[in-house]
Amino acid sequence: MNITRRLLLKISPLFFWRASSSVYGEPSVIGSQSGTELPFGPEFPKLDSLSTGEWWAKGGIAAPPNANKNAKGKAKNAGAANPPPTMDVPRDEVVCFAYYTHQNGVLKMSAQLFPLKPAEDRTARLELKQGSDEWKEVAKAEVLYPGWDAHFRVEGWDGSQNVPYRVRHGEKAMFEGLIRRDPVEKEVIVVANLSCNSSRTIGPRTEIIDKLRSHDPDVLFFGGDQTYRHTEHTAGWIEFGLQFRDIIRDRPTVCIPDDHDVGHGNLWGESGKVSTIEGDSDGGFRYPVAYVNQVQRQQSWHLPDSPDPAPVNRDIRVYFTRMTVGGIDFAILEDRKFKSGPAGKIPQMGPRPDHINDPSYDPKSIDLPGLELLGERQETFLRQWGQDYSGGAEMKCVLSATAFCGAVHMHGGRNSRLLADLDCNGWPQSGRKRALLEMRRAWAPHLCGDQHLAVVVKHGIEQFGDGPFGFTSPAIVNTIYGRWWHPLNEQPGPNPIANSPLPWTGDFKDGLGNPISMHAYANPEDIQDEKKRADGYGLIRFDKKNRKITFECWPRFSKVADGDKAQFPGWPITITQESNDGRKVYAHLPSVKLVGVLNPVVQIIAESTGEILYTVRSRTESFQPRVYAPGKYSIKAGKDKPETLIAENVEVS
Ligand SMILES: [Fe+2]
Repeated sequence: MNITRRLLLKISPLFFWRASSSVYGEPSVIGSQSGTELPFGPEFPKLDSLSTGEWWAKGGIAAPPNANKNAKGKAKNAGAANPPPTMDVPRDEVVCFAYYTHQNGVLKMSAQLFPLKPAEDRTARLELKQGSDEWKEVAKAEVLYPGWDAHFRVEGWDGSQNVPYRVRHGEKAMFEGLIRRDPVEKEVIVVANLSCNSSRTIGPRTEIIDKLRSHDPDVLFFGGDQTYRHTEHTAGWIEFGLQFRDIIRDRPTVCIPDDHDVGHGNLWGESGKVSTIEGDSDGGFRYPVAYVNQVQRQQSWHLPDSPDPAPVNRDIRVYFTRMTVGGIDFAILEDRKFKSGPAGKIPQMGPRPDHINDPSYDPKSIDLPGLELLGERQETFLRQWGQDYSGGAEMKCVLSATAFCGAVHMHGGRNSRLLADLDCNGWPQSGRKRALLEMRRAWAPHLCGDQHLAVVVKHGIEQFGDGPFGFTSPAIVNTIYGRWWHPLNEQPGPNPIANSPLPWTGDFKDGLGNPISMHAYANPEDIQDEKKRADGYGLIRFDKKNRKITFECWPRFSKVADGDKAQFPGWPITITQESNDGRKVYAHLPSVKLVGVLNPVVQIIAESTGEILYTVRSRTESFQPRVYAPGKYSIKAGKDKPETLIAENVEVS
């Protein structure tokens, strides 16, 4: 008998498709793919519509690359002019891309497939070439629907070997790459910092991929807004995959969703509540839990397991975690998930609850008890992470979506001056302080994106310069909501950066009253011209031997061969690791050595308060601790954690 398409559709839910609850561990939403059922419920009939139901009947033919741009690269409005790529590809190309991390002997890999058709197999296979030239299948995973993602977990992973992999579907479709060995022996570990990949500008990201391949980063960090296709995440994520898979395929990738990835302009997740007002500043998520969890699963399932994986309200998942690559120990935070929404909680002092324009307002008036930034669970995580150097950690670094300050003056337009934007982590100020204190205790810089304005700042906690450095990456493609650093008086602040080509460096208070020292900023010169729009990415070099960190910032259309002068003016910036703790050194304690330990982890505690000043791994066999005030101190040390009390009552007068 001939099976017609109509008949196939009718029987497909029965025979070809079954919802998985095994891989992700959640009873996913999921309806059938019959085209008549709505996987996200009747209230949201169009969510992820390009890849659900009878998706193949909906058209969606890819536009030629960059078809939406005029000669100067000017972006036109989103929508029909900037369609996502076609979802209907030759069937030997249905595995779009794969991405992975490995940590503590566990390989986690996600594969994103193009939507499958009813008669097609719903299984993806992972094959490896380990120790011989033969491909061997090591795992199978169900291709989930909606989402079309598949997830592999391989235990007992030997991180010291390079291992070629391929993800297969059916007979012919496959995606190949390399699982890199952990580069522990490298003196300098290179991190790429990318964010904000405007969907208004479609097509390949050739200039960025080419440069990244020549930098050859050891790890990629995509800090959010990988796609701006708010209600079509699967299509947007596939578009991102097509754009970046040639750099992602052969190195570990950290990817965390930000507001636009879950369909918001801004996001204050407030532990998972439902947002009901325009602009979402009441806190919570606008779209259904199933959609939010799908976005998180597609982008972040492959991260190492969270040490505190309990979901927040309504069973929205969390993914905050840690990961070590080549001795650099990353804390990966969710700065949106727990954060309080401002609407109704603080007095409104501007055109909308999250924008402040009233120059007479008192920043303290909005730093109210009960407001969360990272939330208690992540603060606890950060405190423990900062004291734990297991897994070969030598230096530390914190990753999250956005900046712990408002280092920007103009928002959305060259002359649109705003005093404060509560979407950044400069608010609530007390939560900001607590987060920066933990980073300082680990001498860790912070990397993020979100702002569409690259900056390097030194955060002040109590005073200018006493906190860690923060590096916000530029937008990969800056055709959505430009921002500028432009002090009202057009003057540098106190203590400007010597010999900087930039006019407005130095000490400033942001609109929330937070002290920041501006080291460099990359303002768009002409938002209409892609060559002058400040598109680009960050590159961070962690020099373990010399304990230095270099921040580089590369314009999208620059040439690496032109050397440092091709970077944005004001970069590169090299700092010492210890300068992430910017307190003034008052005295040094006697040197610490730990018998039998080459580079001990040392912790200094102020006895009067019990406060941990810092916990760091010594670069050499002996470590001379510094303190910032007179008093009595305890010194602890250990191989990976400061488990041994070395001395107490060490007095500094
Ligand atoms: Fe963005």
